[in-house]
This record gives sequence, C-alpha cells and structure tokens, in this order.
Amino acid sequence: MESYILEQNGGVENLKKTTLDTPFPKTGEVLIKTKSIGINPIDIQVRASKDVLGMITGGHFPDQVILGWDVAGVIEKTGAGVTEFKPGDEVYGLLNMPGLGRTYSTHVIANVEHIAHKHKNLHFTAAGATPMSAMTAWQAVVTLGNIQKGEKVLIHAASGGVGHFAVQFAKERGAYVIGTASAKNEAFVRNLAVDEFIDYTSASFEEKVNDIDVVIDTINSVEHVLRSISVIKKGGRLVYLQPHFAEALSSKLEEAAIKGFGVFVHSSAEILNEISNLIEAGKVTPQITQVFSFDQLPEAQKVVESGRATGKIAVEIN
Ligand SMILES: NC(=O)c1ccc[n+]([C@@H]2O[C@H](COP(=O)([O-])OP(=O)(O)OC[C@H]3O[C@@H](n4cnc5c(N)ncnc54)[C@H](OP(=O)(O)O)[C@@H]3O)[C@@H](O)[C@H]2O)c1
Repeated sequence: MESYILEQNGGVENLKKTTLDTPFPKTGEVLIKTKSIGINPIDIQVRASKDVLGMITGGHFPDQVILGWDVAGVIEKTGAGVTEFKPGDEVYGLLNMPGLGRTYSTHVIANVEHIAHKHKNLHFTAAGATPMSAMTAWQAVVTLGNIQKGEKVLIHAASGGVGHFAVQFAKERGAYVIGTASAKNEAFVRNLAVDEFIDYTSASFEEKVNDIDVVIDTINSVEHVLRSISVIKKGGRLVYLQPHFAEALSSKLEEAAIKGFGVFVHSSAEILNEISNLIEAGKVTPQITQVFSFDQLPEAQKVVESGRATGKIAVEIN
C-alpha cells in the first residue's frame, strides 16, 4: 500500500509518501481500500508538535506515524468475529480517536466499532471528509450542548468544518442560529439556513448579540472564548472545542452562572449512524469545497493549516 509517513514532527515537508506492506485485519477489524480522506486541523497539530502527538497517543511514540483519522472506502477483508460488515461494503468513519487513525494511506485497518455503512446518496468524497467534523459538531450540539427548539444559539466559524455541521444540526433541532465568519463566507453560511450572519471582521460579535442560550466556540483562543461568555445569558451554556481551556475558563463561568463543556471527539459508530440517518434523509449535507489527489495531500494540509478553509477539504484516491 502507499502511505504518507511522518518522518519527524514539523512542517508539511516531513510527510513522505512510501510503500508499506498492507496489513491484515485482526479480530473485530476490517481492511478498508481507501477512496477518500478528510483533512482536519488536528492532523496539522499532531504533524507539527511532538507534545500533541503524545497527547493523542496517550504518551506512546510509535516508530512509524501515519496521520489521518477520517476515511471512506470499500471493505476488502474482514477479521475474525466480524458479522456486520463484509467485503465490498462501502463504509466511512473516524478511526481510532484517541490514538492514531493512520488513514493517510491507500489501505487502512479499522475497528468495526469505529465505522458505519455509507449510504448510496452520500458520495465517497464527501463521506471521507465528514466523520470528525460532523461527530465533533454532534457532541457540541446534541450530547453536550443539548440544544433545544427555540433556543438562541451562536456558532463561531460557521463556515468551517465543524461549524457548518453544527449549524445544520442546531437548525434541525429547531434552534434560532446565528453564525459568524468573514464576509467572503457570508453566502456559504447563509446557504446553511442561519437566521443571522455576523461578519466578525467588520464588527465584534458582542456588539451584535446578547442573551444567548448556547454558544459553540470553535476558536483556538482563550480570549475569544471569554468574550463568548459575555454574551451568554445567566443559566446558559458554553461549548468550546479546546478542552484544555477548562481551567482558564472556570472562574469566569462560575461568576457568570454559565455551564461550560469542553468537547473531545472520540470514535463512535453509534454517533456516526445517527449522522448517517440525517444525511440519508437529506436534512444535513456535508459541504466539500476543495478536492485534492493523493499526491497532493500535503497541499490539502496547507489549506487547512491556513485557518481559512471553507466547509471541508477532501483527498480522493482513485
Ligand atoms: N476538541 C475536539 O474534539 C475537536 C474536534 C475537531 C476540531 N477541533 C478544533 O476546532 C477548531 C475548528 O475546527 P474546524 O475543523 O472547524 O476548523 P476549520 O474548518 O479549519 O475552520 C476554518 C474556518 O474558521 C473560520 N474562522 C477563523 N477564525 C474565525 C473567527 N475569529 N471567527 C469566526 N470564524 C473564524 C474561517 O472563516 P474565515 O476564513 O471567514 O475567517 C474558516 O472558514 C480547530 O481549532 C480544531 O482543532 C476540536
């Protein structure tokens, strides 16, 4: 199989394409022939930093690091005890999070508890780029945020991978949704059916909103999340995507009588199946804005690394 191995933590030039032996699936595992891969900010964070790599692997530093967690493909082989999947099945998933997913490869081993059947109306390219962002958004909107009909919800970076799914889940639950992004992404965000759009580059969001029931703050800045707390009403909820901010936020949350929840996404076929049902019903649509070939995977990482990606960035393998 062809795989990108990470020679050492650092820049994108440290991703090296190489040929490796194709592994065999063990008990409870399947071998997937990859059709598409999603690129996420965590791929870049783990590539760049040995500390983040150690955080994801629980302090274990394997000799060979293959990045990537999102994948869609076709099952080629099944291991012992696998009954719900068979060769030829089209599947997708967020593999082995926390841990190394190893999806930057033309074949990958998946635990059956991390994958779901891909419905026919979900294209492979979109499927590969969906799991991590959609499952993070699900945990933010449903599991932790518990967003209810009629609640006023502010979603930051509504144009991003997580944000664009969070908007769709919150709308599906009947919330009144306000999304932020810069002006160039206004049409994209309005197409997701937000009730209000805020261009964060022309006015600060605090000038535009208050008395919010739930804020989903995707921004990697404690200062930004503290600003979000200031627009939430007493008794409201804050969901933030950098769980290590917990300590820095705790006294402010207490002072403001707001509940805070840090998201840490994990592999879950159960959650992915819930999302699959919404996609199948046409209620949620992954938005893929740029597609790269396997040879161009480092270029795809650069787009995500810029922090300016709109929707999802996918890598296709033919
Ligand atoms: N804890 C977890 O389990 C978990 C899981 C997934 C992701 N995350 C984290 O969540 C964050 C978001 O992930 P993602 O995949 O959604 O990222 P992404 O797709 O790369 O986000 C890019 C988007 O963010 C928007 N943006 C940037 N700064 C903004 C600001 N100040 N206000 C409003 N919008 C802004 C950009 O819009 P403009 O170009 O218009 O500015 C762009 O469309 C990352 O830090 C990621 O590491 C955490």
